[in-house]
Amino acid sequence: MTPGSAGWKPAPQVHGGNPSYRAGTVLPEPPRECVERLDLSESLEGWSPPPASAAILCAALTRLEDCRRDPSSTRHINVTQTLRLAEKLRAAGVFVVFPSSNLVFAGHRPCQPADDPLCPQTEYGRQKAAVEAELATFGSGAAIVRLTKVVGPQWALACDWAQALRTGRPIRAFNDLRCAPIPLELTVHGLLEVAHRRLPGIWQFSAPTDVSYAELASHLARRLGADPSLVKVVSGQATGGLEHIPCHTTLDTTRARAELGIEFPAPFEAMARLACL
Ligand SMILES: NC(=O)c1ccc[n+]([C@@H]2O[C@H](COP(=O)([O-])OP(=O)(O)OC[C@H]3O[C@@H](n4cnc5c(N)ncnc54)[C@H](OP(=O)(O)O)[C@@H]3O)[C@@H](O)[C@H]2O)c1
Repeated sequence: MTPGSAGWKPAPQVHGGNPSYRAGTVLPEPPRECVERLDLSESLEGWSPPPASAAILCAALTRLEDCRRDPSSTRHINVTQTLRLAEKLRAAGVFVVFPSSNLVFAGHRPCQPADDPLCPQTEYGRQKAAVEAELATFGSGAAIVRLTKVVGPQWALACDWAQALRTGRPIRAFNDLRCAPIPLELTVHGLLEVAHRRLPGIWQFSAPTDVSYAELASHLARRLGADPSLVKVVSGQATGGLEHIPCHTTLDTTRARAELGIEFPAPFEAMARLACL
């Protein structure tokens, strides 16, 4: 999910054949001949899917700020073209797996049940909700996997913070913006299980509790043995510029635990494999 040397980058590609080609966290990049490039900003008119049992649609414009500032262009990629791609896959008998987000909810309650009505408060969340609504009509042909904050070994924010703390520079972290970090590897594993077994419906991957970014920063400082006073706690609300600050970001993971056997670790454990630690 986070591109990079140890990241997973199937996003702009649809891979056919051996499913083991799809995860780069634990496996190498797929051989070039197994990769078909697809640009969602271009017409999909003449494109048809390669032979495949399932496809995980990771390609998206994922920055909330970009979606807020340019809803029209981002919606074209994140909704219109994504649904065209999904429709082509469905027509070819390919099972569609769509990574969605906790931001389809407003975040008014913790461990949000999967069947609660959607209530997105951001443009990114509204775009995810629009795709979800359409995929719901695919029945047994699609799965929606709502993810909270996916943390890979190269998580840029944490790595930047770590570098600053190591060199004695202060960092600023919000005490009112929360996230429920889940490890990249576990997320990839869960997505692949859903895809391989063609398990339809709604899935939710989430840490059992969430933490503020300020708590994450302080944890990092402790782990690095850095001066805790380097962590400057600020309010996202007061700073402004955030489209929405959810009170809660956790999702109910009962189905993932029961049917996939996945136990999501506590927030700080999800950070344990950061390359910068
Ligand atoms: N990471 C999370 O914490 C998280 C949480 C909830 C949901 N999700 C969802 O999970 C999915 C993957 O997330 P991510 O973290 O891997 O996102 P990401 O790091 O932003 O990667 C998005 C990918 O989409 C590709 N892309 C963008 N525009 C494209 C286009 N026009 N045609 C083809 N490919 C295009 C990008 O390719 P380039 O690199 O070439 O630009 C990139 O590889 C997204 O749907 C995201 O909304 C992620």
